[in-house]
Amino acid sequence: MKKNNPWLQIPLNEYDGHMSAPSVLQLQMLDKIFEETLNKFSPRSLCVLGCTAGNGFQHLINRPIDRIVGIDINIQYVSECRAWFIQDLQNLQLICADLNELELADSIFDLIHAALIFEYVDVDKLLSKISRWLKPNGVLSVVLQLPSETASPVSETPYQSVKILESFIHSVSPDEFKKKAEEFSLEETNNYNIEVKKGKIFYIGAFEKPNLIR
Ligand SMILES: C[S@@+](CC[C@H](N)C(=O)[O-])C[C@H]1O[C@@H](n2cnc3c(N)ncnc32)[C@H](O)[C@@H]1O
Repeated sequence: MKKNNPWLQIPLNEYDGHMSAPSVLQLQMLDKIFEETLNKFSPRSLCVLGCTAGNGFQHLINRPIDRIVGIDINIQYVSECRAWFIQDLQNLQLICADLNELELADSIFDLIHAALIFEYVDVDKLLSKISRWLKPNGVLSVVLQLPSETASPVSETPYQSVKILESFIHSVSPDEFKKKAEEFSLEETNNYNIEVKKGKIFYIGAFEKPNLIR
C-alpha cells in the first residue's frame, strides 16, 4: 500500500463533515444511490469499493444477501464501519487494502458498487479486476463526478484535510469510461445524471458482464 496516499491523511470526522456539508451534500446523495442500486439489482453477493465507514450500509440490514465485502484503503474508516455494523451485518467482510494492489477470486459477486472511487485509482487496472470478480450477468454500478467548468472538483468547506485531494483527484469522463469498460467486456445497460449543486453533476451507470454460456 502506498503510504503517501492522501486518503490516509483524512480523518473520518473531516471526511463526513465535508461530504455532508450544505455546500456539498454528497454523503446523502451517495446513500440514496446505494439504496436504489440495492433495490434495483437485489444482489446475493455484493462488493463495495471505497466503502468509507459504510455510508448507506444501513440499507443492507435484513436483506437476503449471503456475502457483503467492503474495501477501503483507510484503516480508520474500515474500523468504524466494523464497529457500526458488526451486530447487524454478520456476513460483512471488511478489507483494508489498496484497490490498485488487491486481488480477489474470480466470479464471486452479483454486484460491485463503485461510487466516487475511479477518480482515485488506476481505472484500467480496476476495471480489469472487476470484470474478473463479477459473476456472469453480474453488474458494476458506478458513480462518477463529471468535470465542471464552474465548480472545482473538491468543494470549499471548513474541513482543511480534504483539500489534499485537489492535486490527486482525476476526473473520469463517462464516455471514456464506457469505452474502457467495453474493452473489459462490461457493457453499459443504464445511465442517468444527477445535479446536486449548481455545476456539480454526477453520472450513475450500470454495466453488465455478459454470460458467455447461453
Ligand atoms: C469519495 S469516497 C467514496 C464514497 C463512498 N463510496 C460512498 O458511497 O459514500 C472515496 C473512498 O475511497 C477510498 N479509497 C481511495 N483510494 C483508494 C484505494 N486506492 N484503495 C481503496 N480505497 C480507496 C477512500 O479512503 C474513501 O473512503
